[in-house]
Amino acid sequence: MEANLPKRKETRKSLRIKVISMGNAEVGKSCIIKRYCEKRFVPKYLATIGIDYGVTKVQIRDREIKVNIFDMAGHPFFYEVRNEFYKDTQGVVLVYDVGQKESFDALDGWLAEMKQELGPHGNMENIVFVVCANKIDCTKHRCVDESEGRLWAESRGFLYFETSAQTGEGINEMFQTFYSAIVDLCDNGGKRPTSSMSVGFTKEQADTIRRIRNSKDSWDMLGVKPGATRDEVNKAYRKLAVLLHPDKCMAPGSEDAFKAVVNARTALLKTIK
Ligand code: GTP
Ligand code: MG
Repeated sequence: MEANLPKRKETRKSLRIKVISMGNAEVGKSCIIKRYCEKRFVPKYLATIGIDYGVTKVQIRDREIKVNIFDMAGHPFFYEVRNEFYKDTQGVVLVYDVGQKESFDALDGWLAEMKQELGPHGNMENIVFVVCANKIDCTKHRCVDESEGRLWAESRGFLYFETSAQTGEGINEMFQTFYSAIVDLCDNGGKRPTSSMSVGFTKEQADTIRRIRNSKDSWDMLGVKPGATRDEVNKAYRKLAVLLHPDKCMAPGSEDAFKAVVNARTALLKTIK
């Protein structure tokens, strides 16, 4: 009995995991992996052809982790090659370019592709996702701000990091947190620990912030019909103020949304007699 102990301890310590990268072509998936594994950056775009595979070893707390990384091509042309590789994945690095709105809008499509390939018995709940808002060094072209990206990620229970494969900012921290979450998942019998799922805000709050961001005018923002009365405007305002007040709502972007609602109400009350 005693003689078996060290061996068992050893087995518990080493772990083999599979992670994949996902996201539109040219958002920087390969460069993020290269920055972490090889500590270098390649400015020239070399599109991944189908899939690239690599193995790396990392140390997380007292564990040695052997990571099999499947770096996917983002181009739609390679769908037939990628679709084989979604299965048996513990972690996904989901990347968009902060200067390219389409790559952010495409994130839902990437989740849908994965879900479809995993089939009806596949379970996305027990996979660790980290969203990388990449190319933050290109500040001039940025069009997806932090709170928008963070809200998308955290409302789904995903990790969120701002990264630059060019400067290296955020990359080590992102991978360390990501691998650490995967180790927690494996230690929890392959299920995402419940603590990592509680995000501190509700779906209603997240959806409302998104709706406010996309609203076309002040009426739309308050959710009232153009020509609504003062009472209707004030009633809608009070409801949103309670939902989004920064003291009550921890969702990314809640403060800006709250301010926008206050301004919309002020503007509307000026126009209503
Ligand atoms: P596919 O393999 O086609 O799916 O693309 P990918 O997502 O792997 O993109 P890749 O890593 O090849 O990078 C695309 C281009 O963006 C290259 O020219 C990179 O040099 C550049 N790039 C990647 N990350 C960054 C970054 O953080 N900042 C800047 N400025 N450029 C980056
Ligand atoms: Mg690539």
